[in-house]
Amino acid sequence: MRLAIGSDHAGFEAKQSLVAYLERLGYPIIDAGCFSEESCDYPDYAMLVCDSVVNHDAECGILICGTGIGMSITANKITGIRAALCMDVDYARLAREHNNANVLCLGARFQTDTAREKTTEIFLTTPFAGGRHTKRIEKIHDLTGR
Ligand code: RB5
Repeated sequence: MRLAIGSDHAGFEAKQSLVAYLERLGYPIIDAGCFSEESCDYPDYAMLVCDSVVNHDAECGILICGTGIGMSITANKITGIRAALCMDVDYARLAREHNNANVLCLGARFQTDTAREKTTEIFLTTPFAGGRHTKRIEKIHDLTGR
């Protein structure tokens, strides 16, 4: 499973650490930036990662900013993206099982590296449950045409 990942300056250090962890697990990664702690704007990186997911260059996106909120607001504007801000492994599991989320948003300032790694691993390995959740996802898609 190829992943696209991006952050703003507040999420840069967390992104670097998470990329190293995911590469150790063997995931191919598209790192969309940012590439330093210099101040930048999270929508720019949300757009790059979501484009990769929508264009099928990556199966899943990961976005990190200070809270994860700005990234999730931005990502959910993009047709075809179902982004979920996950604070822990339970959020991550349910975002996949119930919402078939294809972008994981993380708040760098609110999780340790270890918690972030566990949250991400659960997100990446939990399948969509389908069933009653499918028609709810379809209703979301009806709002934007996809
Ligand atoms: C940057 O200071 C901060 O606003 C940003 O990383 C994010 O938390 C926005 O939602």
